[in-house]
Amino acid sequence: MTAYDKPPELYDGLRLHQNENTGGCSPRVLEALAKLRPDEVGFYPPYAAATRACAEYLGVDPDTVALTNGLDEGIMGIAVAYLRPPVGGPIPEALVPEPAFEIFRVDAEAVGGQFVQVKPKPDFTFALDEVLAAITPRTRVVFLTNPNNPTGVSMPLEAIRTIARAVPREAVVFVDEAYAEFAGTTFIPELPAFKNIIVGRTFSKAFGLAGLRIGCLLGAPGVLDPVRAVIPVYSVNIAAVVAVQAALSDPAYLREYLRQVKESKALLYAACDRLGLTYSKSDANFVLIRAGDRLQALVKGAADRGIYIRDRSSEPGCAGCCRIATGIVEHTRRFIAVMEEVLCAAG
Ligand SMILES: Cc1ncc(COP(=O)(O)O)c(C=O)c1O
Repeated sequence: MTAYDKPPELYDGLRLHQNENTGGCSPRVLEALAKLRPDEVGFYPPYAAATRACAEYLGVDPDTVALTNGLDEGIMGIAVAYLRPPVGGPIPEALVPEPAFEIFRVDAEAVGGQFVQVKPKPDFTFALDEVLAAITPRTRVVFLTNPNNPTGVSMPLEAIRTIARAVPREAVVFVDEAYAEFAGTTFIPELPAFKNIIVGRTFSKAFGLAGLRIGCLLGAPGVLDPVRAVIPVYSVNIAAVVAVQAALSDPAYLREYLRQVKESKALLYAACDRLGLTYSKSDANFVLIRAGDRLQALVKGAADRGIYIRDRSSEPGCAGCCRIATGIVEHTRRFIAVMEEVLCAAG
């Protein structure tokens, strides 16, 4: 079992390495936080209003939503609920199509589950046949991310349906939709028809609330109740509770960030084309660039100039790759200028 390779705490430059909203949250969030009263901080937090606001935003019944302390906590909850080995029973298996968010492996192994890796296709299109072939009677969770991190590539919703029909009766399919706002696609409307699927969402990315830690899980009671049972009762704090409601009350702020993400990706693709770098077309707020033997020069050169990007070269199928957040246009332009300077100097 190996621990999560947590990125170093770099806050003294431009953070393009953790897919955050580098423009931060809506000003309404700060106004709501400033209005918090001492008694509200003194009491354990109420969740009904925030749950209703999330449910309304996602178009579901509040009973099908469980708030979590970041989606990270939701993922750990799923691991604890479904991947702990039963006494004397077989070791539950967690199926993960790669490259994937590392936390799936870390959490599966932390609770004693067996991590089963499915190798990627060279172009990162979804490896459905390979996933189906890896399902066994011991499969308990299939971890999917749509659009995927670190590639930004989406999977067809039909692949999710096919997997949900193919897994054992005791298993769940987790669809991580951390980046769904950017893709404009979600599996949520189909949840009533698929009682073994849990969808995860976060307010860290599109809404810029990563520092406050709030996300949610959605699914039918039968599949969500075991997860609710293992999540600490008051894990979401009052600041996150008021912040998420304020963030959801400002759709114009979200729309403007989504617009900038689209423009940023177009700018970065054009820069890569000029520099002869290949990349995956992304449906998220980041782009995976294949810099090949220029990778180290690019990552180090950018860091030396105060811009952090994420070396993903050790991930399956990602040799020579780095991932760059593509959000605020001005930030993307700064990175592109540095990339051109560094790569032209290198070669
Ligand atoms: C695919 C995926 N899922 C979940 C998370 C975690 O989200 P949160 O900040 O809500 O814990 C991330 C964050 O990078 C992610 O990329």
